[in-house]
Amino acid sequence: MSMSKDGRNKQPRKGIVLAGGSGSRLFPLTLGVSKQLLPVFDKPLIYYPIATLIMSGVREVLFITTPEDRNAFIRLLGDGSQWGMSFSYAVQDQPRGLADAYRIGRAFLNGAPSVLILGDNIFFGHGLKNLLDHAAGNPGATIFTSLVRDPSRFGVVELDPDHRPLSIEEKPEKPRSRWAITGLYFLDGRACDYADEVVPSKRGEIEIVSILQRYLETDNLSVETLYRGFAWLDAGTHESLHQAGEFVKTLQDRQGLLVSSPEELAFRHGLIDLEQLSALAERQGQSSYGAALVELVNQVRQYG
Ligand code: G1P
Repeated sequence: MSMSKDGRNKQPRKGIVLAGGSGSRLFPLTLGVSKQLLPVFDKPLIYYPIATLIMSGVREVLFITTPEDRNAFIRLLGDGSQWGMSFSYAVQDQPRGLADAYRIGRAFLNGAPSVLILGDNIFFGHGLKNLLDHAAGNPGATIFTSLVRDPSRFGVVELDPDHRPLSIEEKPEKPRSRWAITGLYFLDGRACDYADEVVPSKRGEIEIVSILQRYLETDNLSVETLYRGFAWLDAGTHESLHQAGEFVKTLQDRQGLLVSSPEELAFRHGLIDLEQLSALAERQGQSSYGAALVELVNQVRQYG
């Protein structure tokens, strides 16, 4: 492993999608199916974080699932080569907390910097790519924050007037701000070592916030702000899952553009060529998603 003291590492950034958990807030929907495989309008929920990872420049991804759901994820996503990527899978037998991703993912990361994304987090907005590119260039760790009405449900960051982080807390009873920490984290090569040192919180979980605290203490935590014009949705309840589907449907209907299609993004980022995109479109049968991909192929052929 080639890592310098400040955690910088020349390896490309790798992705981890945490897609475990019981999804109990979605029962009975999730009694038979993993939350991250449920539909958000025309595609499975897990496609949305994958789209964010592709935009982040990540090509190698580890999916962490429950033991029961592992095969369903493999059936859907395979080895990633269809999208010019490389996918591997690990299981988490119990939901021990988000920091566990860095214990499970240690061998996969092998010291590389990473992007961790929660399997139910959807990010959308003009300029998102710029924010992701910026985060990828930051040393240390970067979090993405968004204003919410009910900060007590989230990790919360307190910011100074220059939007530098002052404090972070997990689900505080008395939040010091309305800035929620979203489920997208860019961490450098030190994250696995920090994860090993995390002790369980009051709710019995090893919290990602404890890892972030280490970066904050050493002035190594950057904050990117998702302000007006960005949508951050987590599809963890019946209400928010439905809202996410409505949001995607409304945008796609109006603009005729797909929201967070891994096939389209793989093509636009040069991971697959037009012929491969066309073959993927054909595989979608008679669905509207397939039709939208066919339309995309035709438009590129016609207009470039
Ligand atoms: C987790 C994190 C929290 C973060 C949230 C984003 O919460 O612990 O800091 O704000 O994801 O979705 P959980 O979904 O486990 O309640």
